[in-house]
Amino acid sequence: MMRRRDFLRNTVAGAGALLFSRRSSPFAAGEISPTADSRIEVLLNEPLGIISPNIYGHFTENLSGVIYDGVWVGADSKIPNLNGIRKELVDEMKKIKPPVVRFPGGCFADGYDWRDGVGPAEKRPRRTNFWAEWETSAAPASHRYDPNHFGTNEFVQFCRLIGSQPYLAANVRSLPAEEFYRWIEYCNSPAGSTTLADLRSQAGYPDPFNVRFWGVGNESWGCGGNFTPQEYATEFRRYTTWVPLYKQEMAFIGSGPNSDDWNWTRGFFEEIVRKGKDQLRNLYGWALHYYSWNLSRGRTQDWEKGKGDALNFDSVDWYELLREGDRMESLINGHWQIMGELDPEHSVKLVIDEWGPWYRPGSEQTPGDQLEQTPTLRDAVFSGMTLDTFNRHPEKITLAACAQLINCLNSLYLAHEDKFCVTPVGHVFEMYAAHQGGQAVRTIFSAPTVTYERDGKPASFWGLKGSASLREKTLVLTLVNPHVSEARLTEIGVRGATLQSGTATTLTNPDIHAHNSLAAGSVVSPQSRNLEIKGKLLTCTIPPASVTKLTLALT
Ligand code: AHR
Repeated sequence: MMRRRDFLRNTVAGAGALLFSRRSSPFAAGEISPTADSRIEVLLNEPLGIISPNIYGHFTENLSGVIYDGVWVGADSKIPNLNGIRKELVDEMKKIKPPVVRFPGGCFADGYDWRDGVGPAEKRPRRTNFWAEWETSAAPASHRYDPNHFGTNEFVQFCRLIGSQPYLAANVRSLPAEEFYRWIEYCNSPAGSTTLADLRSQAGYPDPFNVRFWGVGNESWGCGGNFTPQEYATEFRRYTTWVPLYKQEMAFIGSGPNSDDWNWTRGFFEEIVRKGKDQLRNLYGWALHYYSWNLSRGRTQDWEKGKGDALNFDSVDWYELLREGDRMESLINGHWQIMGELDPEHSVKLVIDEWGPWYRPGSEQTPGDQLEQTPTLRDAVFSGMTLDTFNRHPEKITLAACAQLINCLNSLYLAHEDKFCVTPVGHVFEMYAAHQGGQAVRTIFSAPTVTYERDGKPASFWGLKGSASLREKTLVLTLVNPHVSEARLTEIGVRGATLQSGTATTLTNPDIHAHNSLAAGSVVSPQSRNLEIKGKLLTCTIPPASVTKLTLALT
């Protein structure tokens, strides 16, 4: 393992040429702290692009406890609500500036008839939920048989309450294209213009919903129709060739690859452009889904056997999850490269509309909530790392959605009846909201590599990483220290400006398993402190197993 002094000597020697040839570096010889073990240099003169606020999006599928009990409690409930929507959720979400929410699925979307969820609530049909066959006996009836009390109107109202844009996923597997057009008509046709606009008005919504984001199917390689990429491309062309147009411009999102399925991306793009490059005009975004689930340390690729435990894990499992999550960067680069071969202007951007860790069942706080897991500090660090990855690729990623908002996989919130808590992942979203709409700038991180033993063999992980964005004279720098036990003493310099003052907000805990729960409330929450800045460099301690946001005033 490289020791602290060796690391500094190597870094200084390696950077020597840079230091002397580019005099504006804040790391001028002589100012370097002898005690620092790592370094961050923010290059204001190397902008990467504007961070789309929409990469901080969310996903609410009609799946077990996500909608019923999570988002929707019903207007007659004793639980404080706004026309049936859980009030505490709305209040908390306002703190994270949620830009966009995806609904109704997920796999649920390709079996959903949007007409079941509009019109008077008492007349709406009950339908078998896509997820019914995997529900346990502890699940309430609403998880198996969808009462359709939460439909398009209620979803759009939820979005309005939290200040988000709706992103609707259309059913390509089991409804004809005609029904896609009618759903658009219901949502976007002006008051009084169509029979469906009248139906919307009768429900109390005369003004169009102006839905911009439309997913054309979900996981069309699997639950969404089991298509080949060529077949799906044909369906995509057909569904989007003509749609009713109103004032609201629409953005169609294609059902993209699962993880590193390069063939899906290549096959789809080749087929789409076979009729000419102009066929790409209807494709706004290409949606990658990537879950980090395999903690078997290379022993299996089996979806059930390979999963790890959400709460019971050792430090190797901690690093293994982060390694799995860190694959996101190569997936972004890999799919982007293939897309560029067939779309050299990159008119189509990446959407990452399902991401997060996926553990085996067992940590659900509400018995019967299928796919619910309890996020720990490990998931907060994972989420900070993932959001930093997105921030570093602003020219590629236009939208993303964490899976899923509440009572599910990488949830920001857990709720059951009148109990509610913000998870460590929710806190990370609140911290990172400051990046939305900022100018991402290239940042160089140098730190000792984390080394550990993985089944008797040496393994490693990077020692410190993050992302930086600038808005006027405020620099936001977010950092992840993945080391389970070592703090980093880091020197931070900004090339192109002078540091004036700053604050640090850190989310950590001495116990890497720490989590918040419905029973025990808040154990993990961010703490802020003022920073002392002397000279050109800021020296800052980044605790082990932590996510930190530095908010720095520049001149
Ligand atoms: O998020 C849970 C499920 O994972 C979604 O329904 C599906 O799209 C994905 O496979």
